[in-house]
Amino acid sequence: MIQKIQQILGEINALTAATAEELETLRIKYLSKKGEISALVNDFRNVANEEKREIGQHLNTLKNRAQERFAELKETLENSQSTSSDIDLTRPALPIELGTRHPLSIVKNEIIEIFARIGFTIAEGPEIEDDWHVFGALNFPPEHPARDMQDTFFIEKNPDVLLRTHTSSVQSRVMMAQKPPIRVLCPGRVYRNEAISYRAHCFFHQVEGLYIDTNVSFADLKQALLYFAKEMFGEKTEIRLRPSYFPFTEPSAEMDISCNLCGGKGCPFCKHTGWVEILGCGMVDPNVLENCGIDSSVYSGYAFGMGVERITNLKYQVKDLRMFSENDLRFLQQFEAAY
Ligand code: PHE
Repeated sequence: MIQKIQQILGEINALTAATAEELETLRIKYLSKKGEISALVNDFRNVANEEKREIGQHLNTLKNRAQERFAELKETLENSQSTSSDIDLTRPALPIELGTRHPLSIVKNEIIEIFARIGFTIAEGPEIEDDWHVFGALNFPPEHPARDMQDTFFIEKNPDVLLRTHTSSVQSRVMMAQKPPIRVLCPGRVYRNEAISYRAHCFFHQVEGLYIDTNVSFADLKQALLYFAKEMFGEKTEIRLRPSYFPFTEPSAEMDISCNLCGGKGCPFCKHTGWVEILGCGMVDPNVLENCGIDSSVYSGYAFGMGVERITNLKYQVKDLRMFSENDLRFLQQFEAAY
């Protein structure tokens, strides 16, 4: 009899029903008064007394399991029916809107691609930095007025923890960690304590470049930057370098490109000069190389740094810098076709 009970238990566990009618037929087969389980209960009367206890237990398990199984099947059936009746599968789906790339990302990637073609790879570093990587190693002595050029957010004093004011901090990290030849591009976000207006923000983005090898000259710098300007702003673009000052480069220069709005003739955008400034650059100061463990009698190098917002403004004539960080879809969606 135990065998019979097990057999029915197996059948019950394997039951399926696709419709309510099917389920009812099965219920009658197993659970009704004339069903298989009732038949077993009837047979149970004839079981010898000493076997009653054991067989009784098996029979109870079967009864409970059968009740449970039919309840399960009923529930599954009800759920699947409600799904098919409540949901209209023919209704058109909501379209998934494709996002647009942020204009700063588009331009940053374009800058990276141009320099990648002449062998630059990417280096990244932390936005929260120490004084040494942002200033000390880059030849800003502690009390030097050159530090005033970059109004800094400090997180902690002594030892100083601060938000990097330029991605040159990544360059100092790379110089300390790698041996020349070094040819890296450092894109990233930087922070300065500026009053927020249409032309300044307390954070912005830079791409800086660094090339160190034997016999690197100012001519190499100029050629690389001319190549960049033509690739970025068009074949007709001209560049000019004006002497400037940065603590970490000597000599230093500021680079202008011929105004890409008026073609150099003069317009309100270039303040009628025909030129617009786009980046700072120079030959890496030997002190910086030595601070980072590179022999300045063997190696020389150039560095440059540009603001991605500035280049983006030139490309897309965005008049107000704040638009880049306001997340206004009306602004961002205009760049749909730009990539
Ligand atoms: N780090 C400079 C800045 O943020 C830019 C720069 C980089 C200038 C490299 C010269 C060489 O203003």
